[in-house]
Amino acid sequence: SSGVQVAIDGPASAGKSTVAKLVAKHFDYVYLDTGAMYRAITWAALRDGLDLNDEAAVMAIVAKTPIRFTPGQPDQLVFAGETDVTRAIREEAVTNNVSTVAALPAVRAALTEQMQQIAAAGGIVMDGRDIGTTVLPSAQVKIFLEASVAERARRRFKENQAKGIAVSLATLEQEIATRDYKDSHRTSSPLTQAKDAILLDTTSLTVNQVVDKIVNLVDKYL
Ligand code: C5P
Repeated sequence: SSGVQVAIDGPASAGKSTVAKLVAKHFDYVYLDTGAMYRAITWAALRDGLDLNDEAAVMAIVAKTPIRFTPGQPDQLVFAGETDVTRAIREEAVTNNVSTVAALPAVRAALTEQMQQIAAAGGIVMDGRDIGTTVLPSAQVKIFLEASVAERARRRFKENQAKGIAVSLATLEQEIATRDYKDSHRTSSPLTQAKDAILLDTTSLTVNQVVDKIVNLVDKYL
């Protein structure tokens, strides 16, 4: 076969990217972090001081800003045009504004097309919010990763500690809840579990347990 498509969706900080990278590595598939694409456009729009609700202005950014991923250690690098934005797109300014940009229908249409082009090459693992519902509706394996808000905030807090970022647990919980609310309530392809997606609550599972479950599901299609 020419490779399986694996769609991993779910709310913020549910562990999607950690799991998706490991599944992609296991099968030697491409991993596409679709959230990084929305983040890269948000970064460029903030740099230019745009009104993030101005769809035409943000679309002009999309048109002139190719988003590229290149190999890197430990993680792939993300470029917005010529700029390496790998670190900048994880900062609070982008994190707390990306849902506004991601709610713009024209932006979603343009980025979705880019995602589908990347997926056309073969086996792929994509993580995001609308992969199973909109980007790859015929993906063979669809996963919806969940975890309690408290657990997701706790994981993000530990990650931040390792990076020397000081944001309180309460603030993180609130930011996560706000972003989930915006992502789930927008009109254009909101965050929702696809009818044919498998729900995995990772609150009390280890990363390896989650990866094993998904690898077993993919194996059935090989
Ligand atoms: O996955 P990550 O947290 O990096 O995604 C950042 C934001 O990008 C999400 O909160 C959401 O607003 C948007 N997003 C989206 N659709 C996707 C992936 C991400 O709307 N497929």
